Amino acid sequence: MTDGIPGSIKQEIEKLVKDLNYHCYRYYVLDSPIISDEDYDRLYFHLKELEEKYRYVLPDSPTQRVGAPPLEKFEKVRHTEPMLSLDNAFSHEDIEEFEKRIKRLLKSDEEIEYTVEPKYDGLAIELSYRNGLLYKASTRGDGYEGEDVTTNVRTIKSVPIKIEEVSGIPREVDIRGEIYMDIEEFEKLNREREGKGEPPFANPRNAAAGSVRQLDSSITSGRKLHLACYGIGAVRGMEFKSQLEFIKWLEKARFPVPAVVKNVKGIDKVLKFVKDIEEKRKSFTFETDGAVVKVNDFGLQRLLGMKTREPRWAIAYKFPAHQGITKIKDIQGSVGRTGVITPFAIFEPVRIGGVTVSRSTLHNWDEMERKDIRIGDTVVVERAGDVIPHVLSVIKDKRTGKEEPFHVPEKCPVCRSTVVREEGEVAVRCIGLNCPAQVQERIKHFASRGAMDIEGLGEKNVELFYSNGLIHNFVDIYKLKKEELLNLPRFAEKSAQNLVEAIEKSKSTTLARFLFALGILHVGEYASKLLAKNFEKIEDLYKISPERIMQIKQMGEKIATSVSDFFDDQKNLKALVDLIEKHGIKITNPDFEGKGRGKKPLDGLTFVITGTLPKPRDEVEKLIESLGGHASYSVSKSTDYVVVGENPGSKLQKAQKFKVKTVSYDELLKIIGKHKS
Ligand code: IVH
Repeated sequence: MTDGIPGSIKQEIEKLVKDLNYHCYRYYVLDSPIISDEDYDRLYFHLKELEEKYRYVLPDSPTQRVGAPPLEKFEKVRHTEPMLSLDNAFSHEDIEEFEKRIKRLLKSDEEIEYTVEPKYDGLAIELSYRNGLLYKASTRGDGYEGEDVTTNVRTIKSVPIKIEEVSGIPREVDIRGEIYMDIEEFEKLNREREGKGEPPFANPRNAAAGSVRQLDSSITSGRKLHLACYGIGAVRGMEFKSQLEFIKWLEKARFPVPAVVKNVKGIDKVLKFVKDIEEKRKSFTFETDGAVVKVNDFGLQRLLGMKTREPRWAIAYKFPAHQGITKIKDIQGSVGRTGVITPFAIFEPVRIGGVTVSRSTLHNWDEMERKDIRIGDTVVVERAGDVIPHVLSVIKDKRTGKEEPFHVPEKCPVCRSTVVREEGEVAVRCIGLNCPAQVQERIKHFASRGAMDIEGLGEKNVELFYSNGLIHNFVDIYKLKKEELLNLPRFAEKSAQNLVEAIEKSKSTTLARFLFALGILHVGEYASKLLAKNFEKIEDLYKISPERIMQIKQMGEKIATSVSDFFDDQKNLKALVDLIEKHGIKITNPDFEGKGRGKKPLDGLTFVITGTLPKPRDEVEKLIESLGGHASYSVSKSTDYVVVGENPGSKLQKAQKFKVKTVSYDELLKIIGKHKS
């Protein structure tokens, strides 16, 4: 009794914690309690009393789920492994295509094992455990960096605070899952909110996300939220071989897992179970908009790797959702910021799943022609989950003969420039460099939230300024004067002042945001961030070659060429110089992970691996990257070393062709040692 607490009391507290946690698990995870709520409360308050009296509180005590003061803001959390999203499949053919690609990549015709799970429509969460104890819960954010919502997530009773010791505990592990709200609970919450004059949530997903992203954890704790765990991030001190093995471990360790997890061999069975889940869907208490199909074996998953944002080993099959029938009043073409002209349909307004739909994109001209969609047609319109509505099919029986087909326009509907369709591309583009539609879309994009984030410079104001000749490109934004704004119909002193201030504020930005704002073809938010991680300053990109960009893992030729072309263009460079030098745009780069930072031993060196190494390839790649090097897939002149293992592939010949140094695994370790010193 070193701390003055009698041993018997400690034992009693420990037993109470253990029992209460077990009852919590029975109630919230298994949904089959074995004691009454009153008995639970009695034990709970007894524990609380003892804890207070003896000041002996175990970290996994159920009393520790609540009681933190409200936060000022959420701290940022970096995910050790990025949290990916999923590619979508909308038909059996898409799933078959998914399987074909896998077999092609694995160069195998053997039947592959998959798991099929419902796709939960909630908020993705990462739960980080160290030595079995939950120490951090974070949202997905942009995939790399999320928000610290630990205090809130601890209040969710099905989230284990401690991993149950049943079959080993990893020293460190990041467990991923979805926090969601049951449909019934969502409806109840909305009724309550409406009663209180608060706006209702649009769907259970928003309700779950809104409940977790609360600075005051007592709000979260008052909402009935659930968890379903389906994925693993970084792990140390334990190895899982497959999704099924991992799910089984999760279950034993008392984590809630998806309502159904089916393990099947071959794509035909996958399709059968996807159908099964679709049928079961109505009996689920939660909303699901699809099924997730995953390659079961983690080894194969690693081999398949990922695309920019999604893994190649998993896909989400989206179920068809709400449908409605209406008539197409007109079809028109809309011009985007890259000049792509997309057809869209204007409908007689129709209510579908609680929302009025009066227009929808027709995606592209091929699809419009394939579905033979005409002006005047009666069509089935679909809204799947949160996806924007689209025309599912034409009801041809309803045709009267007066319907008019709509063709790819020969001239841009906005600027009358020539329209081109490049070889093999579905997209149709207006080539008018100064096409007002493109220019305005580019400016809107530049000012948008994920880009320069200029509050108040949205769609309407961009159109207003453009039509009044105040801005012709995004550089002009920084030339706007308050007096000029005051001459416009929609502006008064205050609104003009606010906008000028917002523009001023946007001058401090990050490289990732700035690159995204430029609207370089194929360069979205994710690719911009990747570039910012790899290049310290914008100037480093001015004379960049596509090859150098392709050294970055996940950067393909399309993006690389587009970036290099963009910075090759004198007009673009002039715009950049104007922004930075004349208008004082200040670009910082908190994302940069290269040189100056930690001076890592392999900084600036590019490696390509071929053949089998004594250690798993991804482990070696991680090692290289953790030391500042790039692990690339393809050999080029700028590759520094090709690491050759057993049974090397064609990359070895390429290395010889380009006279790139080849080294064995042992030599690689020596290089690491040498560069270290
Ligand atoms: S696996 C590497 N399994 O869907 C992909 N995701 O649209 C990791 N989701 O970000 C996801 N249910 O938030 C997986 N059974 C399930 C899921 C699921 C819902 C969410 C997840 C993901 C999003 C992608």
